Amino acid sequence: MSQIKSSRIVKKPPLSEAAAGLLAWVDSRFPLTKTWREHVSEYYAPRNFNFWYYFGSLALLVLVNQIVTGIFLTMNYKPSATEAFASIEYIMRDVSWGWLIRYMHSTGASAFFVVIYLHMFRGLLYGSYRKPRELVWLVGMGIYLCLMAEAFMGYLLPWGNMSFWGAQVIISLFGAVPVVGEGLAQWIRGDYVVSDVTLNRFFALHVIGLPLALLGLVVLHLLALHEVGSNNPDGIDIKKKLGADGHPIEGVPFHPYYTVKDIVGAVVFLMLVAAVIFFEPTFGGLFLEHANFTPADPLLTPPEIAPVWYFTPFYAILRAVPNKLFGVILMGLAVMSFFFLPWLDRGKVLSIRYRGWIYKSALAVFVLSFLGLGYLGTQPVTTDSVLGLPIAPLMAARILAVLYFGFFLLMPIYTRLDPSKPVPESLT
Ligand code: HEM
Repeated sequence: MSQIKSSRIVKKPPLSEAAAGLLAWVDSRFPLTKTWREHVSEYYAPRNFNFWYYFGSLALLVLVNQIVTGIFLTMNYKPSATEAFASIEYIMRDVSWGWLIRYMHSTGASAFFVVIYLHMFRGLLYGSYRKPRELVWLVGMGIYLCLMAEAFMGYLLPWGNMSFWGAQVIISLFGAVPVVGEGLAQWIRGDYVVSDVTLNRFFALHVIGLPLALLGLVVLHLLALHEVGSNNPDGIDIKKKLGADGHPIEGVPFHPYYTVKDIVGAVVFLMLVAAVIFFEPTFGGLFLEHANFTPADPLLTPPEIAPVWYFTPFYAILRAVPNKLFGVILMGLAVMSFFFLPWLDRGKVLSIRYRGWIYKSALAVFVLSFLGLGYLGTQPVTTDSVLGLPIAPLMAARILAVLYFGFFLLMPIYTRLDPSKPVPESLT
């Protein structure tokens, strides 16, 4: 018996040899090892990545979480106006672990925007949108638009009262477009009001159309990035100094150096997200709005209709403008302005480390205006003061909107005037 056993062991090739054989078989038919080398183990990234470089990999992690939890939610969700709300309650109460999957998905949506806003802010800090990374940025903006559409359509699915009225308000904005507006709004809804038809098409786009587009764009994003190479906190081009092996002297292979670093970031991030999921899943009404715990009712408008926090900076701009069409245009421009950054910025250096006081102040004012607008967008429009300051919310939103657009419109001027510091020869 033992002889049979041992002869079997001897005959069977060790696993690594079998795996090597399989790999060779695959490699002669598909560029598996080549792709791994090119994009991971021999992708040389600058050796000085810092905190701000965690968010790309975290965005990938959240994307995977949204897709996996979304698939499980879809197994029990019913995309029908009569059943949707109850099916979510069923998932929360009766489906095994349904509450966890649902909270992972709803918290993941907000976490996605936190991560993406920080990822984009890193671009502003280190000039990552500038030559030669314009396409990385533009594809990134395509991702951002898709993500906004994905979140907006996902929000209708629970068929809560805020789902219904939020969709009603935002879709009716298209009605402000001259001549074709009303037709356009009806085309989007597929009906004269938000209805079962709207819910069905939003479901189709949310679960397959937009995720497919997102995945495709993320692949393009990374291919474009790896073609030109990563920027870094110094904004220095590491490809200028190559070693004898042809690799940048100041670069390190992405794997294992940054895979390990990114795992550390992912662990900390998952701990923070888990704290929200287990202890405060509604996040005080910011991640799951209170009005959405009652079913959609076309006869009961919520006292305050406000989108989820990640849209409120743009919503505040919309509300700050008295004319509907002009408000819609400005809201659209507020999002689209980011597309033009690569051509608006005329600074001599990329990184904030070597920029002068003018750019630093402009960026600080921009961030404050974005956060301020975001806060105001969550508040009702009243004549009261803002956070104890003697200014009405409407006026505050108008001032902040001017500062917000000033950042983009004046950029070609102030980045030229900005007294930049000399950039060192090597990474610091
Ligand atoms: C699903 C969404 C996204 C994913 C998964 C993603 C993923 C990544 C990854 C993995 C990197 C390389 C690691 C890093 O630099 O942090 C990266 C870099 C970059 N991303 Fe994204 N990204 C997303 C959205 C965006 C958006 C919305 C923008 C901007 C509008 C953007 C702009 C950039 C830029 C400019 C870089 C190069 C940064 C540098 O080299 O300094 N990304 N992205």
